[in-house]
Amino acid sequence: MSTSVKEVKPYSEAEEKKEQVARMFNNISGSYDFLNHFFSLGIDILWRKKAIRILRKESPKTLLDVATGTGDFALEALRMNVGATKIIGVDISEGMLEVGRKKVIAKGLENILELKLGDSENLPFEKETFDGCMVAFGVRNFQDLDKGLTEMNRVLKPGSLCVVLEFSQPTVFPVKQLFKFYFKYIMPTIGRLVSKDRRAYEYLPESVEAFPSGMKFISRMEKAGYRECQIISLSGGIASIYIGRK
Ligand SMILES: C[S@@+](CC[C@H](N)C(=O)[O-])C[C@H]1O[C@@H](n2cnc3c(N)ncnc32)[C@H](O)[C@@H]1O
Repeated sequence: MSTSVKEVKPYSEAEEKKEQVARMFNNISGSYDFLNHFFSLGIDILWRKKAIRILRKESPKTLLDVATGTGDFALEALRMNVGATKIIGVDISEGMLEVGRKKVIAKGLENILELKLGDSENLPFEKETFDGCMVAFGVRNFQDLDKGLTEMNRVLKPGSLCVVLEFSQPTVFPVKQLFKFYFKYIMPTIGRLVSKDRRAYEYLPESVEAFPSGMKFISRMEKAGYRECQIISLSGGIASIYIGRK
């Protein structure tokens, strides 16, 4: 890693984080969508909408959805008429992409939304390709956060926006205490039973705790070349939207 953030991996210390993350999401891809909305009681959809409204003001014609997973963020952007004529979603988990592709086909959106294998730390695009870039619940899983942020900056056209939605750490009572209990005890138990992956929903709170949130994340964005960076805190700080302009 480029900076000294504690690296949290899903399964073991020995193997590279990226391989483990891809394997974990391949394992849970079948139950991911259900558990996502179930655990957040659907609040994640409101957070996604808020992030997309920010991008919509810019009417990006070409949009990149990094760590697209099963494509929900990109699909929501299309539903909300973000202004794009082409959205490309990239992810390192073929299992997640496969679930996403089925949704794209079912909605007849193959011409406008393409989901392909791709690593945020080595994006398969020329520099200055996209009018906008977005990531939901992805950056925390990157092996090298700085490389990922820099790569997204490279493929953005000058002046365009990068919008990041990610869990953060609430600081206010009682959100902080309730969130900790829910995240550490309730979610891993249900997550293990439904997804059949013992570690996936233990890794989630561990990775959120180790991840640089708030101003720490903003300074990483600035270091990667973004300007006019802003934070929007959501639901008492459970999640945050980070915005930066190339
Ligand atoms: C929690 S899921 C989020 C999926 C989707 N964005 C959403 O909002 O539901 C995180 C995704 O990040 C992907 N991911 C992790 N590291 C990545 C990387 N280096 N490049 C691309 N995708 C990555 C994982 O494979 C996984 O699908």
